[in-house]
Parts: sequence; structure tokens; C-alpha cells
Amino acid sequence: MTVVVLGGAGYIGSHTVDRLIEKGYDVAVIDNLITGHRAAVNPKARFYQGDIHDRAFLDEVFNKETNVEGVIHFAAFSIVPESMKDPLKYFDNNTGGMITLLKAMRDHNIKRIIFSSTAATYGEPKQIPIKETDPQIPTNPYGESKLCMEKIIHWSDLAYGIKFVALRYFNVAGAKADGSIGEDHHPETHLIPIILQVAAGERTGLKIFGTDYPTKDGTNVRDYVHVVDLADAHILALEYLKAGNDSNAFNLGSSTGFSNKEILEAARKATGKEIPAEDAPRRAGDPSTLIAASDKARKVLGWKPQYDDVEEIIKTAWNWKTSHPKGYNDRGEA
Ligand SMILES: NC(=O)c1ccc[n+]([C@@H]2O[C@H](COP(=O)([O-])OP(=O)(O)OC[C@H]3O[C@@H](n4cnc5c(N)ncnc54)[C@H](O)[C@@H]3O)[C@@H](O)[C@H]2O)c1
Repeated sequence: MTVVVLGGAGYIGSHTVDRLIEKGYDVAVIDNLITGHRAAVNPKARFYQGDIHDRAFLDEVFNKETNVEGVIHFAAFSIVPESMKDPLKYFDNNTGGMITLLKAMRDHNIKRIIFSSTAATYGEPKQIPIKETDPQIPTNPYGESKLCMEKIIHWSDLAYGIKFVALRYFNVAGAKADGSIGEDHHPETHLIPIILQVAAGERTGLKIFGTDYPTKDGTNVRDYVHVVDLADAHILALEYLKAGNDSNAFNLGSSTGFSNKEILEAARKATGKEIPAEDAPRRAGDPSTLIAASDKARKVLGWKPQYDDVEEIIKTAWNWKTSHPKGYNDRGEA
């Protein structure tokens, strides 16, 4: 039996492919490499380069991969400010792409999908920690495109019996412990890799946006989960559906919040670098605190994250960064 991973050349996808292979699964990857990296894909996975909008391409892959037990779907765009400027790009790739994928799954009789949803589907939280049953009122097109995906898959389950698990990630960070794969986004918009770019001397300093939030030290508080722990949750979710369980949605976070200043301090310790930083005004649209209630994933899926120390998470990202100063170096940059 084969697991097809869409977006398997991306940051989270490549770590999930790697974990699947370590655990003995047969894996095929579909990716158009728009933000992903061919070198990130474990060589034991079969690789198909193409777009999830391309129905003929998907048919070709699913005609070859005839024994698919489920798909894990990461292929999407995920930069919030870009989605505010160009919402149709997000609805087209994320929501539209999933419609083509679901049609192909329906027609090739593939009945299980695990997919990346996001904390951004909740919008401004009404309570902390955020529970799966809390209202989902996105405040940007990226979150809305993902919420639409959750709704479309729900109706596809009722009509075609395609079972799903929606995994709503909070902040994802870190890299495989041996530093062989890691995070390489262009542009980079996530706090930890940006801090590490400062530590590596690629940026002059870090800007901390907003120091007057109602949090422990006035800076935004976020919930960080290690990418390998996140990868494992996808595999548990697939096994959960294979065991005959119903479709479901789970938050994936650590249930612990770290402020931006705490992350900066942890990064200074993890890297041994000074990492200059300055306070800057708030950015529009940043919620003060985002922390997941993730006890449901622990209880129902049996998820046991291995990384509970943010400094350890940062050390794995630093290990990747120092061993790959130019990332995968496949974007033609000097
Ligand atoms: N990184 C995070 O902190 C985070 C948080 C919440 C949710 N997510 C979600 O997780 C998923 C993966 O995130 P990531 O950080 O690994 O992103 P990424 O950009 O590294 O990976 C996405 C992958 O999908 C591929 N892709 C995109 N559109 C495609 C298409 N139309 N056809 C084929 N391939 C396509 C890209 O080439 C890339 O390899 C995304 O769906 C994102 O919305 C990420």
C-alpha cells in the first residue's frame, strides 16, 4: 500500500515523507516545486513533478499508483500578507487545488485524506487555549481558503465517503535532528528562521513587532511544535482513519505559549550568538496570543510530541542552518 504526499517537497511535507519512510511506508510524492525543493524529498520516495490543478497529471499518477491507502495533502500557499494582497491566488491554489484533488480521489476510489489546516481558521481567538470546537472566523484570505477546504472535504465525506482528518497547526519550527533537511522558504516569514538569519549575520537585526500586548512581557505569544512531532501526527491520523474511525479535526500545538522575547532569548542560548533586536510598533492583524488546546490529538490519536523544550527545537533549526547556510541552494541566488 502506498501513501501519496502532495506538497512532499515542502518544509513540513519533506519531514513527513522522511518519517513515513523511516517507519516502513511506501511513499509517492506529488509537488510542482513552486515553493518546495527536489533535494528535500527522501530518495526512497517516488517523485512526480506536477500541479494539483492538473487533472490529467493527477490521473496519470493515480493510474500508476494503484494501491493508495491514503493521501496527505500539504500543497498550498501560506503567506498571510500575500493572501491579503492577492486573495484569488490563495482561493485558486488552496481551495481550487483541493477540489481537483478530491475529484481525482473520488474517481480513483481513494477514500482517506489527511490535510494541513491552520490556526488561522480561528481568527482572533475568543478564549485561550483555543479548542477545536471554538468558532472559526478567519481574519485573512489564507485562513478562509483553508476553512473552505475543511468545509468542502466535509461535504465530500458525506457524498462520496472520503474520510478526512484536518490538522490545524499552530507555529511549526525546527528540523530533522541530523540537519539533513530543514526549513527553506523564500521569502522567509517565520520568526525562528528569521532570528537564525540574524544569528548567522544574514540580517542586521530582529524587529519585535509590538511590545505593549497584554502578555507576560508585552510581546506576542505563540505555540511552537517541532516539525518531526507534527509529521508523526499525520501518520497517526492516517492510522486512525485506517482503523475505521470517523472524520475529525485536531489542533496540533504544544499547549505552551512562548513570547517573541522568550523565543529570542532561547535562540541566543541555542546559538551562542548575541542576535541584536529592536522594538517596533505592532503589525496590523497580529493576535496577541495564540495557544492551542491539543489534548484531543494526544487522547484520540495517541500523539506524544518528543520536543517540549523550545531551546531544543531551535537547536535543531540552527543545526540545519549552520550545515546548509544557503538552504537547498536551488533558487539560483548568489
Ligand atoms: N509552516 C507553518 O508554520 C504552517 C502553519 C500552519 C499551516 N501550514 C500549512 O502546512 C502546509 C505546508 O506548509 P509548509 O510550511 O511546508 O509550506 P511549503 O511552501 O514549504 O510547502 C508547500 C509545498 O506544496 C507545493 N505546492 C504548492 N502548491 C502546489 C500545487 N498547486 N501543486 C503541487 N504542489 C504545490 C510547494 O511546491 C511546496 O513544496 C501548507 O498547506 C500550509 O498552509 C503551515
